[in-house]
Amino acid sequence: MSDKLDGNPERVPKPSRDGTPRAALARPAGCPRELQGKVAVVTGASRGIGRAIAVALAGHGARVVMTYLHNQQAAAEAAAAVGSAGLLMRFDVADPEAVNRAFKQIVAGEGGVHILVNNAGLAVNALTLGAKDADWQRALAVNLGGTFNCTRAALRSLMHAPGGGRIINIASVVGETGSAGQGPYAAAKAGLLGLTKTWAREYASRGVTVNAVSPGFIETDMTAAGLTPERRAEVLRAIPLGCVGTPEDVAAAVVYLAGPGAAYVTGQVLRVNGGLLM
Ligand SMILES: NC(=O)c1ccc[n+]([C@@H]2O[C@H](COP(=O)([O-])OP(=O)(O)OC[C@H]3O[C@@H](n4cnc5c(N)ncnc54)[C@H](OP(=O)(O)O)[C@@H]3O)[C@@H](O)[C@H]2O)c1
Repeated sequence: MSDKLDGNPERVPKPSRDGTPRAALARPAGCPRELQGKVAVVTGASRGIGRAIAVALAGHGARVVMTYLHNQQAAAEAAAAVGSAGLLMRFDVADPEAVNRAFKQIVAGEGGVHILVNNAGLAVNALTLGAKDADWQRALAVNLGGTFNCTRAALRSLMHAPGGGRIINIASVVGETGSAGQGPYAAAKAGLLGLTKTWAREYASRGVTVNAVSPGFIETDMTAAGLTPERRAEVLRAIPLGCVGTPEDVAAAVVYLAGPGAAYVTGQVLRVNGGLLM
């Protein structure tokens, strides 16, 4: 597997004896699946929410290009979970040239992009007085700039997607509520909602729907790293459903927005947060 930051596709080894994607094994053979023939790109698919989205989209029949940046072992494990429907690529979503190169390769290799899930993100935890320039710049460059770069690179192909293209941006509850100690991250996630609604208006006439999924507190590496036990208990008390969410909860919302049932849905924010924000 290549370790270069060049966006070279890495074919995913077949995980099951007969080559069937693992995510699809529960379905009866020959059963038509709603995303059959679609090519999805999921950024940040090596771990957490992105991995669950990739598995779920593949389970509904899509071919899934799974991107990551640093964590090659996790990416390989995620790709094995997706199976032969998956294709791994490594690039930094914050680097516009690398993104453009990668999407050219995807379009050339896969025949187009039909579904783009802008999921790659990182949390930056710092109170504003103590925040470094680099914290601010990186949080915006990855969470907001990465989404901009990937969408711009994919748009022409999405506009030609048979049946219409789909863009799904993974925002966050903190983009709507704010979060003490997460100013740059909250600003970037709030910005994603503005981009979502802008793109929904700009590309509706070209057959592309654009929506955001806004997760609340989801159990992943990101939340494990950023929360003290006290803060975690405080957040749990604020969730009406009384439990944290799973990556699969978010993936289910993405599958809905990517599928035929959401053809008339655009410019919306679908909150997946156990009632944390209503
Ligand atoms: N977890 C939550 O409670 C929560 C709540 C609201 C919103 N979200 C949002 O949901 C998304 C996924 O979060 P998560 O909790 O699953 O995070 P995570 O477990 O930390 O995974 C982040 C993913 O993004 C990738 N990534 C990070 N920076 C990148 C870059 N510059 N270029 C390309 N890929 C990059 C990582 O790749 P590597 O593995 O290679 O590092 C990884 O695949 C994020 O946008 C996050 O803001 C999460």
